[in-house]
Amino acid sequence: MRHIKQADKYKRMKGKVTAMNDFIFHNADKVYFGKNQIEHLPEELLQFGKKVLLVYGGGSIKRIGLYDTVVSLLKSNHIEFFELSGVEPNPRHTTANRGAEICKREGIDVVLAVGGGSTIDCAKGIAAAALTESGDVWPLVSKGVWVTEALPVVAILTNAATGSEMDAWAVISNMDTNEKIGLGGDALVPRVAFENPEYSYSLPTYQTACGSFDIFNHVLDNYYLAGDATFDMILEFQEAVMRAVVKWAPVAMEEPENYEARANLMWASSMALNTVLDAGTLHGCACHAMEHELSAYYDITHGHGLAIVTPRWLTYILDETTAPAISRLGVKVFGIPETSDAIEGAKKAIAAVSDFCFKTLGLQGSLADLGIDDAHFKVMADHACAGGCISGPKNLTAADVEAIYRMCL
Ligand code: NZQ
Ligand code: ZN
Repeated sequence: MRHIKQADKYKRMKGKVTAMNDFIFHNADKVYFGKNQIEHLPEELLQFGKKVLLVYGGGSIKRIGLYDTVVSLLKSNHIEFFELSGVEPNPRHTTANRGAEICKREGIDVVLAVGGGSTIDCAKGIAAAALTESGDVWPLVSKGVWVTEALPVVAILTNAATGSEMDAWAVISNMDTNEKIGLGGDALVPRVAFENPEYSYSLPTYQTACGSFDIFNHVLDNYYLAGDATFDMILEFQEAVMRAVVKWAPVAMEEPENYEARANLMWASSMALNTVLDAGTLHGCACHAMEHELSAYYDITHGHGLAIVTPRWLTYILDETTAPAISRLGVKVFGIPETSDAIEGAKKAIAAVSDFCFKTLGLQGSLADLGIDDAHFKVMADHACAGGCISGPKNLTAADVEAIYRMCL
């Protein structure tokens, strides 16, 4: 393990906003995508050993028959398994610690996550904590340790949203201290992921909406940091992924069993954070830094918090320097006709983002709608800035963040 300079992942990146920065691309996750891939699960698990910890959430995988499929594959291949169920949306460090304890006690070889981002993140937390002496994930999270050693994680994805199935991050919550922090590390990238879009047919409409906006925002948070980048191939990639979300999210909400819609969203989820789309750009995550405080304090659904914050953030940072990029978003992603007046174009783009969140996806549009008032805004803003500011196209101080929260009321 090594310590990253600052605990907050949003502070880790360095580079110029508009330049084509040097980068290393390395993503060793092997993805089985499609309808008939799960039969490969035993051979993939067995390369790591014969003892598996099966991690899942509140029971959706049982309702869709996936639990039975997985258990039957494990049993018929004589793979010994232990279970940790009940992983919460916004997974708690205490749950990860329970999993780590099982791993230590039973000599687990590989952690198998079956579910959405919360389950996969919890599995990553377990995998990291299991190799520490204390078996406690929180010191790793709170001290910003970059995880270089962990048990291997294999993920079976059921929700297109977070990108956890292909990325190096786990977001863990400590509800005692109202902290929700990203734990990062090369060792946390799942070794293998199974992505069958059919597993997401059963998602509630609300989760489809929230997950879709999460994907959109993962790209947007980087897009603006590319600004008028010289690396415009990346901008085009980013726009293609955001366009896919805008196109297919409403279809999946209307027709939950539309394979094409679910497949586009699922692969968009993986592409958004597997580092293909931020190659050479400055990784920003302004909206994520602000949203994580909301879900840490109020346990709200991550994608919904992002939807409330994003249009306000865009409005707050709009000026002559950001207008061309925001205007381009409107043209390329929402099909708004080009205009020579960048501010005017940017305002239309922000209105399109807002309509997408609150009309197309049908999400409630304010923090007040979620029963949130300004009681904790100051401390949340301070924490989001981690003693400095949130870097991005406009660096945000704690006062800026507090102002944006107020715009969300
Ligand atoms: O608990 P179960 O039974 O699994 O039910 C879940 C949960 O109630 C349900 N669900 C998932 N797949 C389903 C399903 N219900 C029916 N059918 C299915 N196929 O949906 C609910 C939400 O699940 P959850 O895993 O919490 O959602 P999501 O995938 O959006 O994950 C959210 C968590 O990931 C973090 C978020 O902050 C949040 O804690 N993030 C992780 C990131 C990462 N690892 O890189 C980045 C993201 O920006 C994000 O911060
Ligand atoms: Zn997210």
